[in-house]
Amino acid sequence: MSPPDRPGLLFRQDYFDDPAGWSAIKTLLIDIFNVDISALDGLGGHDRSSFPSAYFDGDGGCVANLSAFSMPMMVGGRVIKAAGWQSGAVRPEYRGRGLYQDLIHITLERCDEQGFEAIVLYTDKPGLYEPHGFRTVPQYSFKGPAPAASGKPRSARPLDIDADLDLLRKLLAGRMPVSSRFAVADQRLMFLLNCHLIEDIKLSLLADEEAVIVWRLAEDGAFQLLDVAGPRIPPLAEIVAGLGIAPVSVEAFITRDRLSWKSEAVADTGTQVFMMRAPDELFPSGPTCISPMAEF
Ligand SMILES: CC(C)(COP(=O)(O)OP(=O)(O)OC[C@H]1O[C@@H](n2cnc3c(N)ncnc32)[C@H](O)[C@@H]1OP(=O)(O)O)[C@@H](O)C(=O)NCCC(=O)NCCS
Repeated sequence: MSPPDRPGLLFRQDYFDDPAGWSAIKTLLIDIFNVDISALDGLGGHDRSSFPSAYFDGDGGCVANLSAFSMPMMVGGRVIKAAGWQSGAVRPEYRGRGLYQDLIHITLERCDEQGFEAIVLYTDKPGLYEPHGFRTVPQYSFKGPAPAASGKPRSARPLDIDADLDLLRKLLAGRMPVSSRFAVADQRLMFLLNCHLIEDIKLSLLADEEAVIVWRLAEDGAFQLLDVAGPRIPPLAEIVAGLGIAPVSVEAFITRDRLSWKSEAVADTGTQVFMMRAPDELFPSGPTCISPMAEF
């Protein structure tokens, strides 16, 4: 589909390699979402799989954008070819003219051309996407008493996002999805960016060097597990022992099937929802959670 003619606006695609374009999208995201993605510059720049579509004004400002990128997911035991959508925004003075609908139609068509089996996104406006076949996948966290620590108590090493970047990249490149039911299979750049954006998280490398654990302690002392990245997903009892901590309770923000731990699923009631556009068989039947480290 060719974009409708929008007088005074320039339609652009795949412009992140142009320094002026990259700077313009960063400004748009700060202005609209108050999110600064400059940390990506220290990580090698934008995701090379991105395919943004946008409108620019005559001064080179980005007034509307919608980006898609490749984000393979593990769904029901199989890695599927999925795309993530992000950075959907239109400047206030350009709203209500159909610009965003243009970008949705164009990006849907591009995703279909590339053969994506599913498209996923986060939004606080599900009504915007439902007419285009997206459905909310309810998200949960998992709460329960901490398991008795098992395995040799060996101390984990704290990792630093800057000093240990190469090691983190290696673990992310060879990671096993945290869940066989529903999880991100590869989202390495977002993980690294989120290390900069999410406050108070700790990264700890287990002594066998096979997994980095992303975690924090909640105010009530609960151990919050945000992600596990590496070639092996240890059971929760081993993670707790490996970190050398003895929490009373645990709250996990990943789908729990590989944790070998009894927990209760608690529905997330926040305004931000996770949506998916995919055939029925790809929708999970039980409670799931995408790690906050994969949030985009
Ligand atoms: C949401 C946003 C992108 C819409 O941009 P826009 O260019 O004004 O959108 P359009 O003119 O193409 O119209 C979008 C359509 O969605 C509808 N719409 C707008 N906001 C909506 C909402 N919150 N819920 C449901 N529908 C909505 C409009 O009524 C319009 O429907 P119509 O074509 O049947 O009249 C823009 O308001 C924005 O940037 N908001 C802040 C950032 C944001 O929320 N981004 C999307 C989150 S993922």
